[in-house]
Amino acid sequence: MEQLFHGSRYGEITNKGTKKLIQTFKTYFSKPHIFYDLGSGKGDLSINIAKLTNASKVYGIELHEERYNISIKKLKKADVDNVFFINKNILDLDLSNADIVYFSNEAIPKNVSHKIWDKIPKGCLFICGRRIKNSETRKKYKWTEPIEKKCISNEKWIYFSKSQKYIIKEE
Ligand SMILES: C[S@@+](CC[C@H](N)C(=O)[O-])C[C@H]1O[C@@H](n2cnc3c(N)ncnc32)[C@H](O)[C@@H]1O
Repeated sequence: MEQLFHGSRYGEITNKGTKKLIQTFKTYFSKPHIFYDLGSGKGDLSINIAKLTNASKVYGIELHEERYNISIKKLKKADVDNVFFINKNILDLDLSNADIVYFSNEAIPKNVSHKIWDKIPKGCLFICGRRIKNSETRKKYKWTEPIEKKCISNEKWIYFSKSQKYIIKEE
């Protein structure tokens, strides 16, 4: 049976979108860094970040067991040794070593996003689909050019391109 929870709706960044993401943030991705994908789904983004950037470690965190299992299968076939998929609630994570956090939070409940913001360490580049607004972040986000994603609607993949928002947590 499909595992449902608040925020379990599925969509993913395309390979084209991933390349655009890396190009957009090339100054961050070209340095050694620790990358987190919060809600890593079937794992493609994490594996591609490991292959295409200078990441020292990549963590993909996914609560949905079936998607997590798919990401583990993909990882076994990928020629990378610095990706770690974890089947866990993102709220139970320690993000204190993160340099870059990617959070496709369009369907994630606002209270979860707010709790995640509180875990983001200072100096971290935080990229999200939907802004987390509070007195600290208000008016401080910037927008990327559109980045391609796809999601399932009526059992068909729907492609769309949307700006991602980003902010560096202030020191
Ligand atoms: C829109 S998908 C993004 C997939 C991938 N990050 C990408 O951008 O290609 C969001 C994922 O977050 C997962 N998710 C939602 N809430 C979560 C939570 N509290 N902990 C871990 N994963 C969660 C969902 O199951 C879903 O697979």
